[in-house]
Amino acid sequence: MSARKKGGGVLIYHILAVGDVVGQQGLDHLERRLRPLKRLKDIHFTVVNGENAAGTGLLPQQVDILFQAGADVVTLGNHTFGKSQIIRQLDEDPYLLRPANFTGRAPGRGWGVYDCGRVQVGVMNLIGRCGLDFNADNPFTTADRILKTEKPRFTLVDFHAEATSEKLAIGYYLDGRVSAVWGTHTHVPTADEGVFPKGTGYITDLGMTGPVHSVLGIPTEQSIDRFLGGPPQRHQTAEGPCKMQGAIFSLDSETGLCVDVERVDIR
Ligand code: FE2
Repeated sequence: MSARKKGGGVLIYHILAVGDVVGQQGLDHLERRLRPLKRLKDIHFTVVNGENAAGTGLLPQQVDILFQAGADVVTLGNHTFGKSQIIRQLDEDPYLLRPANFTGRAPGRGWGVYDCGRVQVGVMNLIGRCGLDFNADNPFTTADRILKTEKPRFTLVDFHAEATSEKLAIGYYLDGRVSAVWGTHTHVPTADEGVFPKGTGYITDLGMTGPVHSVLGIPTEQSIDRFLGGPPQRHQTAEGPCKMQGAIFSLDSETGLCVDVERVDIR
């Protein structure tokens, strides 16, 4: 797809970020809805968070489905190692990212630079430390370190985190240094999409891709039972109609920064 020309010959690129795909229902909905949305919105590059494709974690064949559905890069989070079959693919597939601030011995990578027409796009996956019981390095200083290594035209950050404060803080910390920062993991979209003062596009959480009537993708009865003190059960994915939630960042190829953010919710 060709990038749209703005006044003065500046090219605008449209980057789509899609919220956590949950279970087979989420995968099926993504397969049906992603390519039509990409055509409709003239999307040049798509990042999909896939860490819940198998509920907790994802299998190699589900990574294939995400790419076939239209993802250019798949990001992950706290459930990266939920299915051990994925470990070899993390080392071998440069388009599959796990959080960059996982400690040193984790397989895979958390940063990649990719071609997008006439420009290059860097994608960084980070995980938060508030409320997530994970032995991760500091995401703020990890981002600093990565940003010193390469300077693609656009830089995108998927921050997989629980706390809205940590997500906002990293957004402002990286403002003007990256093109876009979006949050994943909490599965509920936030209404704070916009462009920060120094030009970074931001949203605290994209939402999710999966069943509408569910608790973060899980059947409502199963979740309620757990809150009533019932025993832990293997997480299932709810049935019924689905949604695909995310955001489109319009990026200026001259500055590398964001000029507009639009939330999407495709039923
Ligand atoms: Fe998560």
